[in-house]
Amino acid sequence: MKILFVCTGNICRSPMAEGILRDKLEKLNIPAEVDSAGFEEFHAGDEPDERAILTTRKRRIDITGHRGRLFTTNDFDRFDRIYFMDSYHYYQLSMFSRDENDLKKTDYLMNIVYPGRNLPVSDPWYDGMTAFEKVYEQLDKACEILARSLKTNDQDYGRKK
Ligand code: 4NP
Repeated sequence: MKILFVCTGNICRSPMAEGILRDKLEKLNIPAEVDSAGFEEFHAGDEPDERAILTTRKRRIDITGHRGRLFTTNDFDRFDRIYFMDSYHYYQLSMFSRDENDLKKTDYLMNIVYPGRNLPVSDPWYDGMTAFEKVYEQLDKACEILARSLKTNDQDYGRKK
């Protein structure tokens, strides 16, 4: 199973999600590939935002090895599932997609927790640490369910129907 998280800059939300899910998969001994990417190039090649590093470090998760990268059409071929954070990313994915099968791989990350509600993980970039804490809690909830669904081989869990 190969999972990709996407967000705007690939320095806050999606690298945090990547680190959180990877940590859970390691603890559960589940082999899966996890990566993240963004749609805006301002931070391509950059380390994660300092506040994202601090928020995850508090939980002993190290995301400092990550470097921002842009989403490419090829990611639709490389990954089984692509989770996005808000409606802007769905718009971007729909522009990159070549057919319905590409888009079928995508879903709002928070639909794993609240199916069908299309709730966002809001951009914390302009806000303070409180926003990053809230983002962490949202991501952790979704990744916990996702990791357990992979453990039980519930391949359909969290996938858009
Ligand atoms: P992310 O947050 O999409 O969660 O990585 C952002 C990071 C940078 C910007 C916007 C959102 N930016 O405008 O530079």
